[in-house]
This record gives sequence, structure tokens and C-alpha cells, in this order.
Amino acid sequence: MNTGGGDAPGLNAVIRAVTLAGIDQGWEVLGIRRGYTGLLQEMVDEDPGVCVLDAHAVRGITHLGGTILGTSTRGNPFGLEVRQPDGTTGTVDRSDEIISLFEERGIDALIAIGGDGSLRIAHELYRKGLPVVGVPKTIDNDLAATDVTFGFQTAVEVATDAIGRLHSTAESHQRVMVVELMGRHTGWIALESGMAGGADVILIPEIPFSVDRIVEKVLARERAGRRFSIVVVAEGASPRGGDPSYADEEGRYGGIAERLAGEIEELAEKETRTLVLGHIQRGGPPTAYDRNISLRFGAAAVRCVAEGAMGTMVALTGGDVRPVPLEDAVRDIKRVDPNCDAVQTARQLGISFGD
Ligand code: F6P
Repeated sequence: MNTGGGDAPGLNAVIRAVTLAGIDQGWEVLGIRRGYTGLLQEMVDEDPGVCVLDAHAVRGITHLGGTILGTSTRGNPFGLEVRQPDGTTGTVDRSDEIISLFEERGIDALIAIGGDGSLRIAHELYRKGLPVVGVPKTIDNDLAATDVTFGFQTAVEVATDAIGRLHSTAESHQRVMVVELMGRHTGWIALESGMAGGADVILIPEIPFSVDRIVEKVLARERAGRRFSIVVVAEGASPRGGDPSYADEEGRYGGIAERLAGEIEELAEKETRTLVLGHIQRGGPPTAYDRNISLRFGAAAVRCVAEGAMGTMVALTGGDVRPVPLEDAVRDIKRVDPNCDAVQTARQLGISFGD
């Protein structure tokens, strides 16, 4: 098995479940370190690229954040970055080598634990002949074909706690606080934590906002004697007709809170401060929910391998974990439906989406 892309709370619980359930089948379970790169680099600083996982190796890790296998966001075997002789960076396709290495080592199947990027890679490898089962990981909850991804609930808990804590300062200082949350192209974390944390405004990529409408909400609260406001903004949110804020040329999001705070402060004439919660949303122990769903996903992936259900991803659908075609999971990302009952509920409670 391997873990790819950004880390998410619950990865270690999946690793434990896959290992113990695999051993229970009588298999030898291997962990590939740092995504796929462990296969290509046998040893890095005395750290082997592939390791045997036994019961001892996965003891006491269910509650730990991160991944004992390491991970990589730059390990796509179809386009691995290489430095060219002229000093520039190019890419090379080493996917055939990866498939040969699985065969040479006598590995019968890969359990790929990842988000949409990593599972797209897994799906491409499956199409080239590698027997693969995927496990849906990401705090963003943006994978199609599953009701939930592991890591999401923990991120929502962390963000809800942060929003709750901001209330006291916002109220004491009569300020507007803008909280920037992760989620890439989707607003799942912002929506759920914003509602649970008592935000006054929630901005998500699925509902383009207008700064004027946000300011209207802030000023309406002011007139009602509520002289502070909490604005929760998903990192990928954008103004109507405008672009999202990017932190770098690689397309990572970042900077929307700062941009928005300046505009709100000027238009509402209220002190406005920002909090960018960042990787804290991905760190630390998973919630009980994430531990359990991760254990269930891991054990279900082993059942898929045992039954020969390759090219699938384990998914939570209506309370049960079952395999779905990997293709369905990576075809498109799962976005918040602007008309879903959660958004309707938030609106009924007086929360503004800035539209
Ligand atoms: O996909 C998980 C995620 O945390 C996103 O919410 C965020 O946009 C991105 O990863 C950040 O990536 P990195 O850790 O590479 O900065």
C-alpha cells in the first residue's frame, strides 16, 4: 500500500487496518514509502523505500496524525520532475517502470490511499494493468462516489473550534474577523464548520460572492447592536465575475482572507482582522469518526483485494462501506450543491453567502 498527496488525519488508521486485515488473510503486507517514490529509490539515508508491515509496525497508530509511510505531492510517476542538464526542470514518465517493479517484487495488488490526484494516478496505473484498490482520503471531502472521505470530519472539528474561539475576541474588540479555511475548489469545510461555529458569513467557491453584500450583512448586524462579525471564507472562493486568490504559480490557493479584510475594513469602516488556519486543519489526531471510518475503509479495501474487485475504490454510501468503480470516483470532483439543504438551512438561520 502507499499514501499519496497531502496528509490527512486517519491515514495511520487505514494503514493499521490494511495491515492487520491483510495478515489475517495470510498475506505479506508491504508499505511503499513517500507515495510511489519508495519503489524508485530503494534507500534514502538508510530509509528503505519499501518496508514489510507487521502487527508490531502498526501497533498504537490509530490515533496518530500524519502517515508512518510518508507521502509526496510531487511523486506522479506519469510526470516525475527531473532537473535537465541546462538547469531547467522537466518531467519524465516512469509509470512503466513502476508496473515492472511491482511485478519484479511479486506484489499482487496495490491499495492506494489518496485524494483525487493520487487516485487519478492509481486509476491510470490500473488501466495499464496494475491491480489497484483505492481508499478515499482528503480533508477537502471533494471525492465523488463516496458520501465522505476520511480526514474531513477532523478538519471540520478543528475549524469549528477555531471559529468558536474567535468569537470572544471579535465581540470584545467589536471587530470583523475573516477566517480562511482549506478545501481547494470546494467549500465543504467552510460550510460545515461555519454553520457549526456560528459564522455570520460563509463564502464558498460554489457561490460567488459580492463584497457589497458581505458589508451589508456586517452593517445590518451593527445596526442590530451586534457590533462584530465572523466571516468564514474557503480558500478557493471568488468574487462574482472575478478570480480566486492564488498563493503561488503551482495553483495553490491562498490570500483571499487578506484581500477580503482590506475591502471590508474600507467599506464597512470597521477594524477587520484575519486568521489563516492552514495545515492545522490536517494535523493531529483524527476524531473518533475519522478513526472508525478509516479502519472500515482499510478493512474493506482488503476484502476487495481478496475478492478480486480491482479498479475499485471503497466508498461510504448510505451507511455502508462498499466498492465503487475507481473511474466514477475520479471523473469529477464533488462540489457543494448551492441548493442543498445545508445551504438552505444556513440561509434560514440568517447566515449570508455574500450573494
Ligand atoms: O487537499 C488538501 C489540502 O490541504 C487543500 O485543502 C489545500 O488547498 C492543499 O492541500 C494545500 O496543499 P499543500 O499542503 O501542498 O500546501
